[in-house]
Amino acid sequence: MAKVLVVGGGGREHAIAKAMLASPQVTTVYCAPGNPGMQLDLIQTVAIEALDFVALVAFAHEKAIDLTFIGPEVPLAAGIVDAFQAAGLTVFGPQQAAARLESSKVFAKQFMQRHQIPTADYQLFHDLATALTASRQGSLPQVIKVDGLAAGKGVTVAATYDQAAAALTQAFATTDTVLIEAYVAGFEFSQMVLVGGEHYVMLPTAQDHKRLRDNDQGPNTGGMGAYSPVPQVTPAITQATIDQIVVPTLAGLKAEHLSFEGVIYVGGVITPTGPQVIEYNLRLGDPETQILLPQLQSDFYQVILALIHHQQPAVHWQTTATYLGVVLAAPGYPGPTKKGVAVPTLAGADYASVTGTPQQLVSAGGRVMMVTAHAANLKAAQTAAYAQLDQLNVGPLIYRTDIGQQGLAEK
Ligand code: GLY
Repeated sequence: MAKVLVVGGGGREHAIAKAMLASPQVTTVYCAPGNPGMQLDLIQTVAIEALDFVALVAFAHEKAIDLTFIGPEVPLAAGIVDAFQAAGLTVFGPQQAAARLESSKVFAKQFMQRHQIPTADYQLFHDLATALTASRQGSLPQVIKVDGLAAGKGVTVAATYDQAAAALTQAFATTDTVLIEAYVAGFEFSQMVLVGGEHYVMLPTAQDHKRLRDNDQGPNTGGMGAYSPVPQVTPAITQATIDQIVVPTLAGLKAEHLSFEGVIYVGGVITPTGPQVIEYNLRLGDPETQILLPQLQSDFYQVILALIHHQQPAVHWQTTATYLGVVLAAPGYPGPTKKGVAVPTLAGADYASVTGTPQQLVSAGGRVMMVTAHAANLKAAQTAAYAQLDQLNVGPLIYRTDIGQQGLAEK
């Protein structure tokens, strides 16, 4: 019987831990640092931070952990997988060198150019004055990207030159490497792929809702809700994503001698010439994971172990329902948030930035929980998720009331 360690503490890690615990082979799932909401699902939380590699490795040895799954991007970019592998431990996630596909937007863009993977044109700048001049000469809208991890908040889509100038000024206050990218209009989707060398498993398609407010208004967030599958992402688009993005990405990693056992998350956009990559992430999406992993009908532990050993697992996903989830956040998110706000307890919810006890959870950060539902179609799933929310005493917690709208707009 197996023991699993999940590193991270958000809703994504809650969903990963639940999927691992559902395996008949897994007796115990630890989550470091986790959060007290996870304890409602018998996940054992461990008070070790995700960047404390020495303590995590020692814990994995002490508890004879069979598999460690790394949730968030920050420890991946800092080399947690290299540390676990050097200690002889079995771990799922990219090594630091490959994690640059997410941690450096410049590296990702140059990688896509080297391997003819479709993505928007861009220019790279190392000083504000040159960037401002190029911005004024460029067309609108334009996308300003900071080169580095920014928790989903390092990208600005500027509709005016003044907005672009403000974003560039803010970006150069904290970094010396900024990209200006052509804006690609189109339907955005998330395609996650579990990878083990040349073997891969496509997850169902999903769509995140990055803006804070209804009708995609307000500032960017880590994600306010998601649904899956996405009607606009047809089987033909998924096949094009495999042929033009996934397979060339795996071939590119191999050509560059970047050994890979982990997640490739394609942030994609559908254009008239086919899907393009907006960005790569090298971990599962949050909040998409919370509505993707419940669709898995196979043994998640076995699937991940097979990929680590570069074997092709047999994987089955449900195909008859739509899954939808709504994120609740503390007042102030994505800016400074109010701490100590009561967070309701709900069986089946995925918890994130909460503290307190499982019976009396309170906010400790931005996104605090996600309420999910599934039903025969998208409209019914939306209705079911919001019906659950209506039963909760959410107090001042904030959430969007239109998760799923773009999917419902499909004729
Ligand atoms: N849902 C967006 C992300 O995980 O980056």
